[in-house]
Amino acid sequence: MNIKQVVILMVAAIALLSGSFSLGLAGDAALPKADGKAVYEYLTTTNPYQKWAFYPATGKFYEGRHPHGALLTTYVNDLALDGIRAKAGTLEDGAIIVKENYSPDKKLGAVTVMYRVDGYDADAGDWFWAKYKGDGSIEKEGKVAGCISCHAAVINNDWIFTGPVK
Ligand code: HEC
Repeated sequence: MNIKQVVILMVAAIALLSGSFSLGLAGDAALPKADGKAVYEYLTTTNPYQKWAFYPATGKFYEGRHPHGALLTTYVNDLALDGIRAKAGTLEDGAIIVKENYSPDKKLGAVTVMYRVDGYDADAGDWFWAKYKGDGSIEKEGKVAGCISCHAAVINNDWIFTGPVK
């Protein structure tokens, strides 16, 4: 085999490898539709959020502000984590942030979710909002005016309070 053939083989191998890599990423294609039930199913069964990373610079049971819990634990999926770390300014389609809201005695009161769905709500950052009770039942979902109006205060940080994304 001459050098040229070796190079061609190597390029082919890299192309193959990156092909299977993007197939791996296609796991994201299994992202749920913007629907409270589908999202909950995804977060608890398909891709359990409690295995995700904490929101950068936060840990378990940090102190929250009104109106969320006294103690909070906030998780981000890989897409969200990448965007926050890269200071991307705007998180990518498919980014999910899940915040557990606890009472002072660490009882789970609610789980609130922001999920970026391209084209879902152009007026409000294309975020799908959901609030689940501790037992998983849906309290609010969709383009929730209450969530949107308060989070609008941080529109310049992609509607996110917890930490800078740019
Ligand atoms: C009155 C203001 C207010 C309202 C209403 C509100 N939030 Fe928040 N939200 C906050 C603040 C402040 C934080 C930062 C965490 C903290 O310190 O409590 C936050 C954090 C979050 C986070 C973590 C990501 C981030 O933005 O920092 C999620 C997810 C979230 N809220 C979802 C919701 C959902 C879903 C609703 C509606 C059901 C909602 N929020 C309603 C103020 C609000």
